[in-house]
Formats: sequence, C-alpha cells, structure tokens
Amino acid sequence: MRTAVYPGSFDPVTMGHLDIINRSALLVDKLIVGVLNNNSKSPLFSVNERVNMLKEVTKDIPNVEVMSFSGLLVDFLKELDAKIVIRGLRAVTDFEYELQMSQTNRLLDNSIDTIFLNTNLKYSYLSSSVVREVARYGGDISKFVPEQVISRVYEKCGVNKEIIR
Ligand code: PNS
Repeated sequence: MRTAVYPGSFDPVTMGHLDIINRSALLVDKLIVGVLNNNSKSPLFSVNERVNMLKEVTKDIPNVEVMSFSGLLVDFLKELDAKIVIRGLRAVTDFEYELQMSQTNRLLDNSIDTIFLNTNLKYSYLSSSVVREVARYGGDISKFVPEQVISRVYEKCGVNKEIIR
C-alpha cells in the first residue's frame, strides 16, 4: 500500500491545490491531505474549517483522506506509515523553499522522499494569500477556489457576496 501525504496550510484550498490532489491521487494507493495546525500563524480559517472545506471538495475522490496535523511533518508521516510527500511547484521562486523543506525532511528521516508536481499553468501564479487579498477587496475569486469555498472566503473577509455578483 503506497501512501503519500500532501501537506499544506490550505488557507483556503485553491484550484491549484485541488489540481495537485487530483493528479497525485492517481499516482498512489492512498493520499492523505495534511492540514497544518499552526497556532503561531493567524490563519483566516480555523484548522477545522480548512479540513471540512477540503473534505467537501475531495469527497468524490475515493482514495483521498483529509486530516490535520501539528508538529513535524516527518512525525505525521511516521504515524501514517507513509514515505512520500507531495508538493506542487508553481514557478522557480518556489524552488528554494521547497528544496530546503524536502532536504530538511530527509535529514530528519532519510526514508522519506518528496515528489514535486508542476502545477497546471492556469494556476501557476495562484496562492491562498492571493485569494485572501483579492477577496478582501471584493474582487472575483470564482476562478481561484472551488465553488463550495467562494462564499465562505467572502464571509470571512467581511465582504457582502451580493455586492460582487
Ligand atoms: O502550504 P504551506 O504553508 O506552504 O505548507 C508548508 C508545510 C505545512 C508543508 C510546512 O510548513 C510543514 O511541513 N510544516 C510542519 C513543520 C515541519 O515539519 N517543519 C520541518 C520542515 S521545514
């Protein structure tokens, strides 16, 4: 049984994340989407809200499970008996940070490998922080996040969705 973990903040989940989830679920037997529960950042959505949104948007992918984790990613993988980390690479600017994370994870546990998937070109400049920024100013985020997530982002940002449409 080949289990992989796709970790991230997912604050909120974007179309780019969903694309990586769909594609990596085809490569492994089981894909665990791991939502980081990090109290030192102040996220827009609570960890439970992020987990629930991810569960909703992945409910039709049979081999995907969504869980939260805190602490080190390598410890989360050990608990799950997983050896593969999935990460998306959007542009060269992601590379240094991603390489540092993957090298650190291997220094902590050399049985773990990271598989990088290039993101769909359509989403190569998309990030959760861009979604939050556009939504805060009432911009259209309908192409950036899954349908089920749109109104929740506006609501969190205190933007009246009726005004947007
Ligand atoms: O979506 P993000 O914020 O880029 O995801 C970053 C994440 C959650 C993958 C990374 O911060 C992480 O793995 N945090 C857990 C703590 C850890 O294991 N740190 C050591 C690796 S640098």
